[in-house]
Amino acid sequence: MSVVILVSILLTVLVWAAFLQRNRRKNEPPLDRGFIPWLGHALEFGRDAAAFLTRMKAKHGDVFTVQVAGRFVTVLLDPFSYDHVVWESSNKLDFGKYAKILMERMFDVTLPDFDPAVEKAMLRSHLQNQNLPSLTRTMFRNLSTILNDGSMSATTWQEDGLFNFTYGVMLRAGYLTLFGSESVQLSAPGRDLQHSLHVYREFRKFDQLLMKSARGILSAAEKKEAALLKENLWQLLDANTLRRRANRSSWLEAYQHHLEELKVPRDMQSRAMLLQLWATQGNAGPAAFWLLLFLLKHPEAMAAIEGELKMMLQKVKGLEEIGQSELESATIFNSVLEESLRLTAAPFITREVLTDLPLRLVDGTEYLLRRGDRLCLFPYVSPQMDQEIHPEPQVFRYNRFLNADGTEKREFYKKGRRVKHFTMPWGAGANVCMGRFHAITSSIKLFVWLLILNFEFELKNPAEGIPDFDRSRYGFGVLQPDGDVQFRYRRRSHPGRL
Ligand SMILES: *[C@@H]1O[C@H](CO)[C@@H](O)[C@H](O)[C@H]1NC(C)=O
Ligand SMILES: *[C@@H]1O[C@H](CO)[C@@H](O)[C@H](O)[C@H]1NC(C)=O
Ligand SMILES: *[C@@H]1O[C@H](CO)[C@@H](O)[C@H](O)[C@H]1NC(C)=O
Repeated sequence: MSVVILVSILLTVLVWAAFLQRNRRKNEPPLDRGFIPWLGHALEFGRDAAAFLTRMKAKHGDVFTVQVAGRFVTVLLDPFSYDHVVWESSNKLDFGKYAKILMERMFDVTLPDFDPAVEKAMLRSHLQNQNLPSLTRTMFRNLSTILNDGSMSATTWQEDGLFNFTYGVMLRAGYLTLFGSESVQLSAPGRDLQHSLHVYREFRKFDQLLMKSARGILSAAEKKEAALLKENLWQLLDANTLRRRANRSSWLEAYQHHLEELKVPRDMQSRAMLLQLWATQGNAGPAAFWLLLFLLKHPEAMAAIEGELKMMLQKVKGLEEIGQSELESATIFNSVLEESLRLTAAPFITREVLTDLPLRLVDGTEYLLRRGDRLCLFPYVSPQMDQEIHPEPQVFRYNRFLNADGTEKREFYKKGRRVKHFTMPWGAGANVCMGRFHAITSSIKLFVWLLILNFEFELKNPAEGIPDFDRSRYGFGVLQPDGDVQFRYRRRSHPGRL
């Protein structure tokens, strides 16, 4: 009897599955459902997206559709076609819908009338152009204060993890620069230093749970921990307290004003502050870490960077006098940064397909995108790791983005055709990262130069290899190492000189 029931249940399931089964329609990209019903490729995708998508690319080519936890995701890996996607209008390929889902899942943030275009415009007007010089000055002062505090002011050797050290200094200085400082103690920075350290410590613990919470796979214990950390951080970033801080960036003022206008309740405003802390500070620290690690591993790159810095300092008295345009024109530094981002920045560019849409590839083939699917570009696989565009893509070459005459190199080819997007760490088109100028010029460059000028530093075990990536982070910006690298540093006895 029970066998009969079992068999009939099994049959029902099979019939139901066949009924739900999606088939490839004419002109649609190759479909790969995987072996596990509904779940499809979700596990492999989450475990190591780069390896999985590279394997699928070898099997299907530059465009294919995979099943991932009930969703169908069309993946596009042809850099020549990216422009169609990143500039397509948002009523065909929508960016905001998926961003909303993640905001809620990771940060418990729901905003009425959330419009990513408005937030973007705000970042554009406050973190670029005429605001850059003042952001740079503030960042310089805050970096200097932090790098001169506590054990960092000692002239004896100190030890720390390079990732922890770099992320800590960058996040704290970036936070003080954008979110302001305590108004009561303008001349004594002690409270800012304590407060920002507190923010960093809590944020790091929270950051370590973020990927799992984005995928909705936190265990019960982790869920509890994440909830507790969020409570702490919301308190630290309390919207009312922030409003009373001095020297807030004009971006923060405008953003808080915007939330008020949307009549967002105060507790939700604090949650939005945590989201903004992550969005503005989550990538610069890890990016600076990789850059420093590559410099420490490649003495010729370090020498080139030091040479360039020396040249610049011949014209001015100190780093604080270097103007914005000289800062931006440090071509060797720019190439080193571009190269380390090429190797370590791996965001997805994601769109919801709102209407059946043709997609034409550069070779002329036309595919049909199906309404309701998700479209995903992964520039890390191509162009960044594409050996046709960048020979020996796994190798760090500090001058990969320099011409023989020392100018910036912008010409790269694939199949004899010039590639416009030869590296895309900041995304592109309508959702390019708005903080990139602030992140590059003010933050990473100043930090690395300050470190070089004021400290001696070296790896503790120079023979140790570059750590592997934390592979769960593919898709979310600059990668993090799966373990830290120990290093030593001490303040120079004559800082400020090379
Ligand atoms: C950060 O910079 C601002 C603006 O220059 C300054 O008011 C504040 O005191 C600085 N904070 C620290 C800790 O140096
Ligand atoms: C990590 O960095 C923070 C902030 O700089 C520091 O307080 C802490 O001691 C460091 N942790 C380790 C394990 O080195
Ligand atoms: C920081 O704020 C204080 C007090 O509001 C003000 O006197 C000072 O000029 C500000 N500093 C900068 C660099 O804006």
